[in-house]
Amino acid sequence: MTKWIDVGPQQDLPTGRRQCAKLEGQSIVVFNLEGRYYALENRCTHAGLPLEDGDLSGCALTCPYHGFTFNITNGQNVDDPKDTPVRTYPVKCENGRVLVGLEPLF
Ligand code: FES
Repeated sequence: MTKWIDVGPQQDLPTGRRQCAKLEGQSIVVFNLEGRYYALENRCTHAGLPLEDGDLSGCALTCPYHGFTFNITNGQNVDDPKDTPVRTYPVKCENGRVLVGLEPLF
């Protein structure tokens, strides 16, 4: 059963914003992309560096270090779909709070 972790109020994560959080010691980044929320591990699959400051274009997040690009909706490497994806997590909103599920989606 998924354990849901409260990562903050929905009002602090308006459209176009992102927010870092900890999931039981795991650093994640939560995005609000046009009203839909996505959460992924804050760790690039290339060299393990943080993704939180990467440029976001649509759903494509570019790692600020060496330019790998990941789809935030499913964690896939956009340029190499066979590469190991970044871990993603389910997100839901309840009572004005953003909740991230501890079981990864893949
Ligand atoms: S650490 Fe992200 S592309 Fe190298």
